[in-house]
Amino acid sequence: MCGIVGYIGKNPALPILFSGLERLEYRGYDSFGFCVLNNNKIDFLCKEKGKISDHCHLRDSKSVGTVGIAHTRWATTGLVTKENAHPHCDCKEEIFIVHNGIIENYKILKENLVKEGHKFISETDTEVLAHLIEKYFEGNLEQAVKLALREVRGTYGIAVVSPKYPNKMVAARMSSPLLIGVNSDEFIVASDPSAIITRTRQIIHLDDDEIAVLTPDNFVISKQERESSSWSVRTKKIETIEWNLEEAEKSGYKHFMMKEIMQEPSTIEDAIRGRLYFEGGNVKLGGFENVEDRLRDVSSLVLIGCGTANYACKVGEYMLEEYAGIPTETDIGSEFRYRKSLFSKNAAGIFVSQSGETADTLAALREMKEKGLLTLGVTNVVGSNQARETDAGVYTRSGPEIAVASTKAFIGQLTTLALITVYLGRQREMALVMGNRIIDEISKLPELAQEVLDTKEDIKRIVGKYIDYKDFWYIGRKYNYPIALEGALKLKEVSYVHAEGTAGGELKHGPLALIDENCPTIAICPSDSVYEKMISNIEEIKARNGKVIAIATKGNEDIKKIVDDVIYIPKTLEMLTPILSVIPLHLFSYYFADALGKDIDKPKNLAKSVTVE
Ligand code: G6P
Repeated sequence: MCGIVGYIGKNPALPILFSGLERLEYRGYDSFGFCVLNNNKIDFLCKEKGKISDHCHLRDSKSVGTVGIAHTRWATTGLVTKENAHPHCDCKEEIFIVHNGIIENYKILKENLVKEGHKFISETDTEVLAHLIEKYFEGNLEQAVKLALREVRGTYGIAVVSPKYPNKMVAARMSSPLLIGVNSDEFIVASDPSAIITRTRQIIHLDDDEIAVLTPDNFVISKQERESSSWSVRTKKIETIEWNLEEAEKSGYKHFMMKEIMQEPSTIEDAIRGRLYFEGGNVKLGGFENVEDRLRDVSSLVLIGCGTANYACKVGEYMLEEYAGIPTETDIGSEFRYRKSLFSKNAAGIFVSQSGETADTLAALREMKEKGLLTLGVTNVVGSNQARETDAGVYTRSGPEIAVASTKAFIGQLTTLALITVYLGRQREMALVMGNRIIDEISKLPELAQEVLDTKEDIKRIVGKYIDYKDFWYIGRKYNYPIALEGALKLKEVSYVHAEGTAGGELKHGPLALIDENCPTIAICPSDSVYEKMISNIEEIKARNGKVIAIATKGNEDIKKIVDDVIYIPKTLEMLTPILSVIPLHLFSYYFADALGKDIDKPKNLAKSVTVE
């Protein structure tokens, strides 16, 4: 949520901040702002409502300053207004700050600051930080930031500059990602590597409680010790970003979403590369090596994720129970953290997240850690909070996902959960022959996924037939029940058309009341153990004049006699069908939204990475 870029170096800051923000816009995009300093003067200060891409002229504004901060906002505290856009400043316009995260005790801090005479112009929690820093500002910017942060409860990634100290920037982090891009003649602070990749691949991740003081030639990072509150200087490792710019760009596609759907076969390939161990009917997961013995003792699992990642968890639940024989439940982060969960001694949590920064998932993870239970991650973003805080984990290796609606990352999560199922299954009762059968089928998935993508023109044609409908129902059973939920979510997210997902068996317990000729159903019914049951459900719909689009297994000609349209997927093992059946649903949502002319990559009101509760 929201994006931060800060620049300090020898080059004009504005164009660098501008293109950094453009790349971060997928994280939040209802308003944005810049503050650039030139010596002791504010060289460029601007806040606007709307998307940065609608204000391209600003890139060429007259500004020569070589220090600056910028922010793209996804509103949490305070409406979408120019005043609430970042950067925020203190009363004397000596402190400028951009902030990601949320200051939970901002109301009480604000009340006190108002009593002390501070004047506020926005409704945001961030402005409180600017005034708090002002309160402690006695000639030393970093000291003032440190003292202010001591009073703050919540999460933050911040960058602060002051025209009084124009050759300095202070950045700090607490549970909100922040990194420093290191180049020969400049440093760029950013909340996400995509903001800096055009200029450098060398980065340093800041950790919680760390503060960085940057000048054009140098930087010092120090960390506050929780016990003593004293600060000690840290030596940090410079890491190299592995993915390239082309991967983060559209490569000729109209939207990132389409590019990412088309990458689904290679996403599976990347997730399984080097991990299938045919001789042993097993998989090799380097990230689990250190906890191999503890995993053998795990007696129950809870899988936690939010949004699309939660639906991946639900598929994982079916896989793990059926093939690894481990009692498993699934929850969403925002519910789990407030439940009184009861665990057996050897329970473990698997946290599934593309970004590894989703606040609710992280809170659930911390909750489980506090109970002393084993925590495992299925994460895409290397070095994310989740990746660093779990005891062990498996990266999905899906590469950068830019479109807000998750597609290829979901495929990566499902594939990784299938690998984990084999791993845990083989530690238990799963026979070598079964292990072999599953990994053999997994190895065929990239090719099969490509086969589904090759039917995209048919799917586009089907979308054309249904484009005027305003309500859709999605049904599935067992492994494809979560896929019905995901299909409906995807259509809602990108086309703003009403869609709901239900387990096939639940239709008659309510949803049937809404089924008629105006509400088509997408029925996910591959030839599997629940196929007959799905056919009964489809007949219930047809009896009420409902139209049905079926996702069925190639070769099933009979289904054409019952339904209105069929999209075929190739045959695979039942547990792996979700990896193929979700692909046409991704394409359906994409073509639907595109036909309606929606802003597909940046749906209204949504954000890619939700780093607040
Ligand atoms: C947001 C995104 C969804 C995503 C969810 C979880 O709501 O819009 O697409 O599924 O967050 O994100 P995560 O990064 O934890 O997978």
